[in-house]
Formats: sequence, C-alpha cells, structure tokens
Amino acid sequence: MRRWNVAITGFGRVGKAVAALLLSRRARYQALYEADVRLTAICGSRAGSINDDGLGEGRLAENELTPGLSGITVLASAPVDVLIEAGPTDFRTGGPGYGYIKAALAAGRHAIAISKGALVFDGRGLRALAERNEVSLKISGATAAALPTIDLLEYNLAGCEVLRVEGILNATSNHLLTAMAEQGLDFAEALRRAQRAGIAEADPSFDTGGWDTACKLLILANFGLGADLALDDLSVGGIQNVTRAQMEEWRAAGLVPKLVGHLARSGDGLHAGVELRTYPASDAFALVQGKNKAIRVTTDAMGEILAVGCGPEPMATAAAALKDLEHILMRRR
Ligand SMILES: NC(=O)c1ccc[n+]([C@@H]2O[C@H](COP(=O)([O-])OP(=O)(O)OC[C@H]3O[C@@H](n4cnc5c(N)ncnc54)[C@H](OP(=O)(O)O)[C@@H]3O)[C@@H](O)[C@H]2O)c1
Repeated sequence: MRRWNVAITGFGRVGKAVAALLLSRRARYQALYEADVRLTAICGSRAGSINDDGLGEGRLAENELTPGLSGITVLASAPVDVLIEAGPTDFRTGGPGYGYIKAALAAGRHAIAISKGALVFDGRGLRALAERNEVSLKISGATAAALPTIDLLEYNLAGCEVLRVEGILNATSNHLLTAMAEQGLDFAEALRRAQRAGIAEADPSFDTGGWDTACKLLILANFGLGADLALDDLSVGGIQNVTRAQMEEWRAAGLVPKLVGHLARSGDGLHAGVELRTYPASDAFALVQGKNKAIRVTTDAMGEILAVGCGPEPMATAAAALKDLEHILMRRR
C-alpha cells in the first residue's frame, strides 16, 4: 500500500469540504488504488495544522488550528505528495495560490488547483514546471468544477479537432438571468435577492461582469486546446446592464438570454470572448436554468457534445478536485 500525503491550502468553504470528503473516502482509495491517503497539512491565511501521520476530523475545527501556521513553510514542514489549492482567486497577481502551486510543483509534488488566479496569471509557466518535474497539474475545480469541461476536452474528445466551444460557466449570472426572466425582476432586485440567499457575493462584479467566465474559458483554451491566450485577448461583457425592457423584448421574440463564454477556431488561431447571447426556446442552452452550467463543444469528427449540470456547493467543487486526485492515484498506481 503506497502512502499519499495531501495538503490543502485555503481552508474556507471549499477547502473544508475537500477535507471532509477526502477523509470519508479513505477506505475507497485503499480498496481501489492501494493508496493510503492521509491529510497531513491544512492552512488558511492566519492559521493551520500539520500532522505527519494524518489529521483526523477532530483537528479540522477552526479552534484546533495553530495560529501563525500559514504560507509556503507549511508545505515545506509537512510530508506532501499532492497539494490541493483552495485559496482566493486573484487573476491579476496569481494570488497566494500561485506561490503554493509553484512551490509544490518545483518540489516534485502534484498539484490540484481549485482557485483560478494562478492558472490565469501563469498557466503556461506552471504547466512547463509540472512537465519538467514529471508531476501532474490538475484543474477540474477551476474550470466549472462538477461540470465536465477540461476532462471532456482532454480525454473524451481526444483525437478530435475542437472547432467551437460555448459555455454557460457562471452559476451566479445564470441564476440572475433566470430570476429576471421568470419573475420579471430588474437586475438590481434580482441581485439583492440572490445576495440575501447567499448565491451572489457582496461584490458580484467578478461574476456578473463576465470575468469568472473569462477566466474559466481562458484556462480551458490554454490547458485543453493548446492555446496561449491572455485575458487581454478576450473581449469580456457581462449582464449588469441588462434591463427589464430588454428581457421583455426577448421574451416576446421567444428568445432566452445567457451569459456565454465562446471560442472558435479560425484561420489565424483561436478567438475567445464572453458576451450575452440569446437562444430560441428550443435550443438546449435556453433550458439551462438557475444555477446550472453547461458546455457545448463542436468537433470535426464527433459532432456536437453537450454537458449540463449543477451539484450542491461546496461539495460539488470538492468532489471535482477529488476526481482529479483519483486520476492521479489511478495513473500512479
Ligand atoms: N465556492 C464555490 O462553490 C467554488 C467553486 C469553484 C471554485 N471556487 C474557488 O475556490 C476557492 C475557494 O473558494 P471558497 O468559497 O472556499 O472561498 P472562502 O470561503 O473565502 O475561502 C478562502 C480561503 O482561503 C484562505 N486564504 C486567504 N489567503 C490565504 C493565504 N495567503 N494562504 C492560505 N490560505 C489563504 C482564507 O483564509 P482565512 O479564512 O484565514 O481568510 C480562506 O480559508 C476560490 O478561489 C474560488 O474561486 C469556489
């Protein structure tokens, strides 16, 4: 039985869900992959916990964390084979996740990114570092999580040329557009209600301005389709200026609006962007309602593939990251 030590950086909603799910699946990893998976380190921005033999449920509570135990030293002080990065997303600087992922890959450890910042900021550099050190850098949690996107491109469509991708990749925006369409709300009221329900952030601009969609699309293009796009290469629009009058016009015309990340291959490369698109009610995208997400991929040889989904958060995102862990265990068995 091979021992696998896992560290989690970023111990908020998602990091905690990853820890709980990982501990509950230890017997599964033993049975399927002959892998003795232990959680050896966790940290937030101000506190953390390390145990070389593995942390149990009891040590994961907030008040059990050691103050001051955070940062890259945590990775250096614990036995770690796989890092799961679940800290904040900062696509302008890479955020703390950039340092964690870089340090892990440089030390020959596998990394599973849930935060998107580092992958947007320097995906190419991180990929090269992983290749040089012959370790995996997995990204399902950062690319719409439970919705299969990167796996679809990398595994399921292997050998095909991807001609076009369209994605409803941001749950908050889709929820807001659905609420505006179904309840006749204006944007501000739909947003207020979503914030009260904990669906939208206090500052929703990353989601409603199209930036979350743009980040996911860029990561998919660069990791899944061999592109080398920067955020500046994408034209990015959002939904914050959609009015009730527009919604009414679209409804009367039988159209349904969606915030869509899109990319297409043309003679001079891949072109990508984020914009509001309208679809006839019979189109599969028109039926993707509420917090659901979807991706539609058009290929040369396998035709058009559509995936739609939404799981309960943060569990679904945690499960996506642990799917990546299983793929690493499977490959290295
Ligand atoms: N929520 C979802 O459903 C979802 C889905 C897909 C992807 N994601 C991504 O997952 C990540 C985490 O989301 P979340 O909802 O769990 O956010 P969250 O609840 O705000 O948690 C973020 C965590 O990161 C920690 N952190 C901040 N700076 C750090 C540092 N320098 N070192 C170590 N940890 C640090 C915070 O620590 P403190 O508590 O000490 O400040 C907190 O524990 C984000 O990047 C998000 O984009 C989330």
